[in-house]
Amino acid sequence: MPVPHPDPISAASYSAVELCPENDAVLMLDQRRLPSEEVYERLTTSTEVARGIADMVVRGAPAIGIAAAYGVVLAARRAKSRDELGALAAELRRARPTAVNLMWAVDRMLSCVERGADAPALAEEAREIHRADVLANRCIGALGAERVPDGATVLTHCNAGALATGGYGTALGVIRAAVESGKRVRVLADETRPYWQGLRLTAWELHQDGIPVEILTDGMAGFFFSKGAIDLAVVGSDRIAKNGDVANKIGTYSVACLARLHDRPFYVAAPWSTVDLGCPGGSAIPIEERSITEITHLGDRRIAPEGVGARNPGFDVTPARLVSAIFTERGVIDPVGEAGLLALDA
Ligand code: MRU
Repeated sequence: MPVPHPDPISAASYSAVELCPENDAVLMLDQRRLPSEEVYERLTTSTEVARGIADMVVRGAPAIGIAAAYGVVLAARRAKSRDELGALAAELRRARPTAVNLMWAVDRMLSCVERGADAPALAEEAREIHRADVLANRCIGALGAERVPDGATVLTHCNAGALATGGYGTALGVIRAAVESGKRVRVLADETRPYWQGLRLTAWELHQDGIPVEILTDGMAGFFFSKGAIDLAVVGSDRIAKNGDVANKIGTYSVACLARLHDRPFYVAAPWSTVDLGCPGGSAIPIEERSITEITHLGDRRIAPEGVGARNPGFDVTPARLVSAIFTERGVIDPVGEAGLLALDA
């Protein structure tokens, strides 16, 4: 199903999230059903948007932030008082804990309310957050593509593509920009258990663009690094701490360790809205714990032995020293650390 919106900001044939032209509903592509079905949910309350974020109908740090900004637009239409709006905004903020883009977007929308914005101005602010994210991804892509050699095989983990952002993508934006500049690039996509963002979403996006992509199970990267078959790794991020530590989908830290052991660059691509200068280091980043049934079950069927537990942290932290460079729309941080981040802080 094409995006049921006359003029999607994503400017692609699909879009993770859009605000309807009448500002009365949010369209969310249900990423849980991809790639087999392309279905958009029409959400008319901020509580439904919060649930869509928590249940991962929409996921990926920048896309979550944009969805929450649109959620505040819906909340402001319903709320009869500032207190009620505050409570609805808090519900959006709580939907997922690790991606700081979520809190950043809600706070930016609330400060717009504080400045006295009316309903159309609030909707415009949310659309501006969305538009700016797409532009940021284009800049990130152009900067990152300079570090991708012609003929490179690139490993990525999770999905940091158009589906995870306002459009174009961060890590996949780097790959797209490299391809658009004429370079030949092959991609290896970690399947990314337990939610399969790599297998379902990254593979779907790149295949549609005609970019060669093959799926690896999460345990295979070491084998391919050891064979010299991976030239670099590039991933997105959910939160970058002041010291340059980077939170991203569980399994990212292992990729960074392998890249270092095999003397290959490990890059992070993220918009400035992912940088949290209020967070001193990786150990202060809240890590989401999700239901262990995502591990023990395949769909409704239990595949783990009865009586055995599991662990399911959604994210891990890669220390700054393992990150070769961070690509942001404000510039490249290399070497990665507090000085480089503060230099780009406007
Ligand atoms: O649990 P998810 O799918 O929301 O996790 C997403 C990631 O870890 C992405 O890599 C990150 O949000 C960056 S998206 C541009």
